[in-house]
Amino acid sequence: MSTTFKLDTSTSRANPTPQPRKRLTVPVIQRRKFEGKTEDPLVMLTAYTARTAQLLDAHCDMLLVGDSLGQVIYGLPSTLSVTLDMMCNHGAAVVRGSYHSLVVVDMPFGSYEQSPQQAFESASRIMSETGCAAVKLEGGQTMAETIAFLSQRGIPVMGHIGLTPQAVNALGGYAARGRSQEEHEKILADAKAVADAGAFAMVAEGVLEPIAIAATQSVDIPVIGIGASARCDGQVLVTEDMLGMFERTARFVKRYHNISQQIEQAAEKYAGDVRDRSFPGPDQLYQPKK
Ligand code: KIV
Repeated sequence: MSTTFKLDTSTSRANPTPQPRKRLTVPVIQRRKFEGKTEDPLVMLTAYTARTAQLLDAHCDMLLVGDSLGQVIYGLPSTLSVTLDMMCNHGAAVVRGSYHSLVVVDMPFGSYEQSPQQAFESASRIMSETGCAAVKLEGGQTMAETIAFLSQRGIPVMGHIGLTPQAVNALGGYAARGRSQEEHEKILADAKAVADAGAFAMVAEGVLEPIAIAATQSVDIPVIGIGASARCDGQVLVTEDMLGMFERTARFVKRYHNISQQIEQAAEKYAGDVRDRSFPGPDQLYQPKK
């Protein structure tokens, strides 16, 4: 996809705002899978801030405000203590920073599992406070009733099956799913349940490749893979993982950059300049008019 944004240079500071371009909608995303095939794979990345959203927007079909922000932004040990307030604040920032991508916001742990009614209250708050187009929630067959409840009430839902990080304690870790026959069958049953319940798309995370392919082929909604298969209908990664922000990442991450090294080098150079008083220099200073 080419970048067609025109930069509005009147905008202050370093955040030129691209001119509005039509935002992708849920039906448009869903129709990218036609007769069981997706010619043009869907591109999704996570974003948690307005500036990151601005930079990613033209290159993505969807931006996911993932609850991975718990670890990436807040330094939490897992996603379990992420709150609705966090998701609403970051979701609103990402919607403000984007014009083109469909924005999906994760429902945090504890905000939807109790009942479809609880899920509706949380999802409607997320949608009204952020302006996002859809929410994502984890779980397959057990969440089918909730997905149907939300979808029938105007809340587009993206499912999330396979390795579901909010269930880390029950799963016993973040290992790939599908190594036993029971898990294999559960993943396929979850995919079918999520699709039948009315989700417009789903994420399949950390599943053995043949199962990911079978799940993708078994449903008529897009399956977005992460640690799944290139034959899914699209892919998602945590942007900071993709940029090389962390030393340790899951096997399924491909690093496209080494941003942590660049940040460290810049910080080291800045510290040196401050200490030897070469910053600020003449270009950064204001002098009285002559
Ligand atoms: O929270 C998140 O970022 C996610 C993606 C990894 C799919 O759920």
